[in-house]
Amino acid sequence: MKIKRPLVFARSSLALLLSAFVSSTSSRAETPAGEATLSVDCTSTKPISPHLFGIFFEDINYAADGGLYAELVQNGSFEYDGTEQRDWTYLSFWTPVKRGGGTGNLSARSASPLHPNNPHYAAVEVLEPGEGFGLTNTGYDNIGVRAGETYKGSLFAKQLFMGKAWSPDNKIKDRPMPVRVQLETASGEVLAMAELKVEGLQWKQLTWSFSPTKDADDGRLVVLGCEKGGFALDQVSLFPGKTFRGHSNGLRADLAQTIADLHPKFMRFPGGCLVHGDGLTNIYHWKATVGPVQERKGQRNIWGYHQSAGLGYFEYFQFCEDIGAEPLPVVAAGVCCQNSGFSPGQGQEGLSGAAFDAYLQDVLDLIEWANGPADSKWGAVRAAAGHPKPFGLKFVGIGNEDMITPVFKERFKRLHDAVRAKHPEITVVGTVGPAPDGEDFTAGWAFGREEKVAVLDEHYYCPPEWFWKNLSRYDSYDRKGPQVYVGEYAAHEKNRHNTLRTALAEAAACTSFERNGDVVKFSSYAPLLSRVNHTRWRPDMIYFTPTEIVLSVNYQVQKLFGQNAGDQLLADTVAGVAGRERFSRSVVRDSKTGDIIVKLVNGDDTPLEVAVTLKGAASTTAKASLTLLGGLAAEAENELGKPAEVLPATKTVEGTDRFKLSLPKNSLTVLRIPAGR
Ligand code: AHR
Repeated sequence: MKIKRPLVFARSSLALLLSAFVSSTSSRAETPAGEATLSVDCTSTKPISPHLFGIFFEDINYAADGGLYAELVQNGSFEYDGTEQRDWTYLSFWTPVKRGGGTGNLSARSASPLHPNNPHYAAVEVLEPGEGFGLTNTGYDNIGVRAGETYKGSLFAKQLFMGKAWSPDNKIKDRPMPVRVQLETASGEVLAMAELKVEGLQWKQLTWSFSPTKDADDGRLVVLGCEKGGFALDQVSLFPGKTFRGHSNGLRADLAQTIADLHPKFMRFPGGCLVHGDGLTNIYHWKATVGPVQERKGQRNIWGYHQSAGLGYFEYFQFCEDIGAEPLPVVAAGVCCQNSGFSPGQGQEGLSGAAFDAYLQDVLDLIEWANGPADSKWGAVRAAAGHPKPFGLKFVGIGNEDMITPVFKERFKRLHDAVRAKHPEITVVGTVGPAPDGEDFTAGWAFGREEKVAVLDEHYYCPPEWFWKNLSRYDSYDRKGPQVYVGEYAAHEKNRHNTLRTALAEAAACTSFERNGDVVKFSSYAPLLSRVNHTRWRPDMIYFTPTEIVLSVNYQVQKLFGQNAGDQLLADTVAGVAGRERFSRSVVRDSKTGDIIVKLVNGDDTPLEVAVTLKGAASTTAKASLTLLGGLAAEAENELGKPAEVLPATKTVEGTDRFKLSLPKNSLTVLRIPAGR
């Protein structure tokens, strides 16, 4: 899979970098009039959250199935249905295929299924084998395959009969059904083939692996019965041999690496609105997403498609571990989304009675599943999946953007009290509604304070100007009250494009999170992923096709903050920026390395000269690194099918305690000074 990243720096960024950072000097020259100054006192520090920059993963825009989850077959479990999309059936994305005179029937059935959670399967009746009769799957907008790479397939199957159905020769004993699986192009060219034998009346898993002879972006998986008879088929699967970190049932390696490159300190999952669901029956239940994949319970995704649960809690936790991010699972607060059932603002309902009690137990069981010893009831389920060691869960979110009603409050309180009583070691993150102000926001904060919730989750999708105007939002937040998780935010242009302007507004917000990192504990841009042609919500941070990845400017900002995070804020003073409403900065130290990191955002259409002085910095001879993102028109963006326009460019400069920086128009500058090493 190819990531759309030019091998060289974007022309414009590189040219600017070479000219923009005029000098770094240790001379004691006076600052010229008109120049802005940033004076940093490296001896005055304040601890800030070491978890500030993370990610929010939601299965929206085909982010999981057809996205991060590397499964290439769509509807391999034959569970798509008309409640998910009006024209969907159990056989959607499968079509019958006849080869060389083969004929037969394809139908969906539910008698004696593979598992009650996976109740439908395909029945293939081969009337005339010819060169095969069966079915083909087009994956998610085709299956993209690469020559020489290994692909690992599996399916569950059983014989239904041999010869003619219900005829006297309907005997399967010692007469397995020969089945051929093929990777083909759209025009039917066979790229890889494997032969299987379906044997017996009980479901059995068959596996194979093969390598296509050439690249194809229009691949299909074809399953053909090759003798007269009938067989049943379920949980048909094809994975690339190379998944992220080589896990089975794993993640798409290129996408997962792109996320890992953000150096996220935590990952919130699995949503969003997906968590509280469209109605009480659509709430996300973590237990339905663990264990053998064929026994997991898929369901309608609130964003208008099917979620298979193939990417389930085990895979989420494993990914967090792989990339060094703290897991932050979010559970529904025992209520469904207030916009459920086409009733905007009116659809909130709460689980009650035994259903609520069971739900509460599920939440406690989640903590045992993640952290309990391998011989505890739920720790054993984790261990059976291959992870005897506890995952070390520290944080749990309860609720998402819920309306703060009596129904919500009652459920939230019971869940919160139960978690605190049984697991005081877990930090709970509550919710304050869908907006950065207004009725639910105010009521959510009052309720959160009353209940002494440790952290509250604020969301804002607002125009870039809103971000610039709210840079001091957290300066006045009560340091004794709940801390803040900015759980979802993104600057929205009217046309919802991922412009440099939006990314810089977000960068400015990130500097304000750092400056207030004693009260802002976490932050995450939203949404993270979007499959091209299945984008239900934009802007998103990362767009992808089966074979390409487009990294938005917003991604580049998040990456710079993630890779240059600190855990101490250094005191600073700024002068000479009067009248500049789109300037922001922060200075942090990473105590592990001792590095000092200065971030400067210039969101104006004119450049800005800044003299940076570091008082009390430990002397160093090491080189500093200087990274520039932007310096282009505010409308610049990175688009699919075009070379990326906005990329960071880095150069090294002398490590010193005085820098004269020229910040180009519309730019983010990151200066990293290795101090005291
Ligand atoms: O990020 C997309 C959606 O925005 C989330 O699901 C929801 O929490 C918010 O409304």
